[in-house]
Amino acid sequence: MTLPPIEVSGLVKRFGAQRAVDDLSFAVPAGRVVGFLGPNGAGKTTTLRVLLGLVTADAGDARIGGRPFAELARPAETVGALLDGGLLHPGRSGRDHLRALARAADLPEARVGEVLRLVGLEAAADRRAGGYSLGMRQRLGLATALLGDPAVLVLDEPANGLDPQGIRWLRGLLRGLAAEGRAVLVSSHGLAEVARTADEVVVIHRGRSVLQAPVAELGDDGLEETFLALTSDAPVEVAA
Ligand SMILES: Nc1ncnc2c1ncn2[C@@H]1O[C@H](COP(=O)(O)OP(=O)(O)OP(=O)(O)O)[C@@H](O)[C@H]1O
Ligand SMILES: [Mg+2]
Repeated sequence: MTLPPIEVSGLVKRFGAQRAVDDLSFAVPAGRVVGFLGPNGAGKTTTLRVLLGLVTADAGDARIGGRPFAELARPAETVGALLDGGLLHPGRSGRDHLRALARAADLPEARVGEVLRLVGLEAAADRRAGGYSLGMRQRLGLATALLGDPAVLVLDEPANGLDPQGIRWLRGLLRGLAAEGRAVLVSSHGLAEVARTADEVVVIHRGRSVLQAPVAELGDDGLEETFLALTSDAPVEVAA
């Protein structure tokens, strides 16, 4: 595919007078993990929701494989998504939740067992999801994202609620998905974790892009310093 798997260009989203996303442009190439960073309220989730067709942009566009989400022929097999507060029927087991989604998206039922294995949720698969811990719910959300074996993944804070082993496991999972040629866009507050996981970072502040760079160019502790300098509320002069 010659088009970038994810392309956001000139994106604007207003809520009343506020510009939650303000002329934002970036791309996620195939085979790369891009870390999407910014302080609370910077506009990360809003951007991901526009990308996934859950929110309508005021200007610009957000495309997956060259098309807006609403125009994708087989969305579940094109893009997998994890957003905070994913819908879960509390009385249903994780396995039944995935089965229902597989049926709705016309995906093979065998895929349910595969994704449960991929996210390490086999032991809890037949328990009521309402009793899952935060980390288990995140794993079920990741299983949901992977169900259609999509080439593009859009993950909002997937590390939330994971223990240190879980975070290490997630890093391996995301690297593995990129190594298979998938494009992975992952928002995070964990700067050190992003530096270890992502190939590139896109940093936003008040809806605007303030840095887009390969992680390798930021140095060992460069990301945190750069992030704080670029996203503090006081005006900061950043050396060129
Ligand atoms: N539905 C909405 N109605 C009104 N304002 C909204 C809505 N959704 C988001 N906002 C505002 O848009 C801005 C960006 O919010 P967003 O959730 O995208 O930030 P974020 O970068 O994901 O933050 P966090 O790191 O806390 O998750 C915030 O000021 C938020 O209050
Ligand atoms: Mg958010």
